[in-house]
Amino acid sequence: MMDTKIWQANGHTQSLQEAAELLRNGGLVAFPTETVYGLGANAADNDAVQGIFRAKGRPSDNPLIVHIADMEQLDGLVEPYPPLARRLMEKYWPGPLTLVLPVKAGALSPLVTAGLPTVGVRMPDHDLALQLLRQAGCPVAAPSANLSGRPSPTTADHVADDLTGRIDGIVDGGATGVGLESTVVELANAETVRILRPGGVTMESLTAALPNIRIIREGLFEADDQAPRSPGMKYTHYAPKGELYLVRGQPSAVTAYINDELMQAEAVGVKTGVLAFRERTHKYEAADLVEDCGSEQNVEEAAQRLYGALRRFDDEGIERMWAEGCVPDGGIGEALLNRLAKAAGHRIVNT
Ligand code: TXA
Ligand code: MG
Repeated sequence: MMDTKIWQANGHTQSLQEAAELLRNGGLVAFPTETVYGLGANAADNDAVQGIFRAKGRPSDNPLIVHIADMEQLDGLVEPYPPLARRLMEKYWPGPLTLVLPVKAGALSPLVTAGLPTVGVRMPDHDLALQLLRQAGCPVAAPSANLSGRPSPTTADHVADDLTGRIDGIVDGGATGVGLESTVVELANAETVRILRPGGVTMESLTAALPNIRIIREGLFEADDQAPRSPGMKYTHYAPKGELYLVRGQPSAVTAYINDELMQAEAVGVKTGVLAFRERTHKYEAADLVEDCGSEQNVEEAAQRLYGALRRFDDEGIERMWAEGCVPDGGIGEALLNRLAKAAGHRIVNT
């Protein structure tokens, strides 16, 4: 067990200085980004990067995203990249887009890329993160700052719950904005962008920003064992401790189905939970815990609230839960459904 320091960073650079020095010198420091909290380590320091895998209990064949604060840092990390990559950076950085690019030999600990010839890079759109990265002065490898298999953290408390005693410190910058991880893309060829993981940068946004470019994606509910291109996609991430069912269909059918299931669960004494949109939270009176994921008019809010809600189901010892899958089409709704499907371990019900 190590001592885990918490820095309350309300724009004060003093506390960041200490966190940055720790990072540069091989420490493990969690910090907020606009998506979720990341667990950072100096990406060039093999021991430090190994520490990330150890602290999270993460499988070593799942590569890490490298975070940078300035474009000048990029040239040291990757081989020359095509103009399409440059266009994406200009449009979306800083922001929730991770670009998979050819890695420069020797620039990073080989553990970062898990032996792949590519590296995922992004520039987070968060003042504290950017200040920390600048002061550390090194590229920072940072997966989400949760124990492997737990929902990603959207507050410093979530990080502390999972990693206290396992890392050197946590920069507390309050709740994150997007609430789901970045969109990961690779360039399939000079005119095609492939989305490997849906996220904060939406399909619609990419399509509008790149009118002459083809945008393709893996299926939303792709079976996990189909040799995925993004190694992380094959693991059951974000899993709550209980059994989660994702219920798709028209809202009235979804509500009816869930209530039926609640009655049956109640009859056998199973502790139940429902993740519902605010318009319908009052319809699940038989549930032990109903989590409000915001109005269905505002999918962004549901994205922000998802991981916190999944953690509360765990905290309350909920054994079986249902999530309303009647998520409005488009926008961040796609990433939300993708994460729900993963949390459900592909227990998806079509009503
Ligand atoms: O929003 C985010 O991306 C957060 C914050 C902290 O930046 N980070 C994050 O990292 O979600 P992580 O490690 O939990 O997810 C990284 C994802 C995995 O699905 C991994 O497989 C994929 O990115 N990835 C990383 N490097 C890759 C590469 N070279 N090729 C394909 N996929 C890669
Ligand atoms: Mg993660």
